[in-house]
Amino acid sequence: MRNLYLAAATAALLAAPHLAMAQEVEGDPEAGQRVFNQCRACHQVGENARNLVGPVLNDLFGRESASVEDYNYSQAMQDYDVTWTHETFRTYIKDPRGEVPGTKMVFAGIKNDEQITDLIAYLEQFDDDSDDAAQ
Ligand code: HEC
Repeated sequence: MRNLYLAAATAALLAAPHLAMAQEVEGDPEAGQRVFNQCRACHQVGENARNLVGPVLNDLFGRESASVEDYNYSQAMQDYDVTWTHETFRTYIKDPRGEVPGTKMVFAGIKNDEQITDLIAYLEQFDDDSDDAAQ
């Protein structure tokens, strides 16, 4: 038992530098890509993305909610009426069904702020007209 404890403590120490790196204020797009795995069943991004169960998420930031052409939004989503910014996205993705009662996005949400920051950094890579896209 004692040895197990020591092993766990050592592992935690070895992992610590990585944890510290993950605390950056700017999101990590690679970590965000892993978070996006939770969305992939329903959403695509990128060049050949098409609508699946949910709409394509290219060019998300700066556009109106429920504005992907050829996608059949629920009435609830059409009535939501926000511009997608980091802030509105953060609020929405924490609790999609609480934020938009009646939405057909059946997803519990992401509660972890850091994961959301990473997810935003990932999605921004598919944002043609975002201010910081051209790096
Ligand atoms: C089970 C399927 C499913 C999953 C998983 C899912 N979504 Fe959705 N999403 C939808 C559907 C369906 C809609 C359309 C909602 C409506 O019309 O009510 C939607 C809508 C959205 C919208 C609004 C898009 C717009 O055009 O205004 C965003 C943003 C979004 N999802 C992000 C995400 C992200 C990010 C994840 C992963 C963390 C995710 N979704 C996971 C199905 C899903």
